[in-house]
Amino acid sequence: LPHLRQYEADTRVLLGAALESKHLEDAQFASSLQQHFGQLSFENELKWESVHPEPDRFDFSGPDKIVEFAQANQMELRGHTLVWHIQNPEWLLDAQWTRDSLLLALEQHIHSVVGRYKGKIKYWDVVNEAFDDQGGYRDTIWYQVIGPDYISKAFQYAHAADPEALLFYNDYSTEGMSPKANAVYRLVNELLDQGVPIHGVGTQAHFDGRYPLSRGPMAKNIERFRELGLTFHFTEVDVRIADSAGVSALDKQAEIYQELIEFALHYDNIDVMTMWGVSDKYSWIPSWFKGQGRALILDENFQSKPAFDAIAEQLDSF
Ligand code: G3I
Repeated sequence: LPHLRQYEADTRVLLGAALESKHLEDAQFASSLQQHFGQLSFENELKWESVHPEPDRFDFSGPDKIVEFAQANQMELRGHTLVWHIQNPEWLLDAQWTRDSLLLALEQHIHSVVGRYKGKIKYWDVVNEAFDDQGGYRDTIWYQVIGPDYISKAFQYAHAADPEALLFYNDYSTEGMSPKANAVYRLVNELLDQGVPIHGVGTQAHFDGRYPLSRGPMAKNIERFRELGLTFHFTEVDVRIADSAGVSALDKQAEIYQELIEFALHYDNIDVMTMWGVSDKYSWIPSWFKGQGRALILDENFQSKPAFDAIAEQLDSF
């Protein structure tokens, strides 16, 4: 297998991967990370339920292992995620919060988590999935108790905790010109007008391999964020296919991965393309989408798939 990290210097695009620290025990997993990925994302272990299980207790054991591995292998890190409406601990969801008390809890959480990794985690998904599919604000605990300015507050708290960190808004179905992407565009303009520190937007790019990319609307969307000076990252790429599908589905999957890396190589405001996993062996997809899987670029034996070969070919011919 060509080691995809060899292309980082020439292409200025990093391939990233999301992981859970327990998989670093798997030697094949660890060597695949070392060979192919220049940036690591925390799949679950920096979410509130994992890292902040009790009001006065943090658990950094898993994240520390990932930070250590990244530093030993000259990899960048992406902190995922400081504010979301899923995977929150009971104590956050059950308490009787006021706007001020929840803002204080949010500030203390961000100060503790971002502060611990100051200078080590380069990117943060500060807020994840604040909008619904129609482009309205999701009615989450954050929105209900604090109001829409929980978003600007979270970015300001993160910047205060690590002024060098690059702060992103992250969401899905925001790759093309969707109502949700328009809401993200409006939000970013508001934050920039208020002087709130935001450096980029992440679009998760979880795709269903049955459908081709909408390349035209994606190009338009990437370009409008580029005009704002915003970095644009593919943050959680996987392309799920039906277990029953034959090899042609793997070729269609490869086309989608190829188009994404072509976008990354073409636009100078895209410098990271992160897959939501390393190998089909540990992907979240099968437990979330019954009858679907094989979504990543390495198979369950960490061997290449047409998607891997397509990415390698694009990087090599850049
Ligand atoms: O930690 C518990 C463990 O104690 C328990 O034994 C086990 C069995 O019930 O569950 C474990 O929690 C699981 C958790 O992953 C950690 O592995 C949850 O059940 C499971 O629901 C959770 O799934 C994660 C999912 O987010 C939750 O929505 C996936 O692994 C993770 O890949 C996925 O990632 C999200 C991004 O954060 C945001 N974008 C969407 C993406 C997919 O939903």
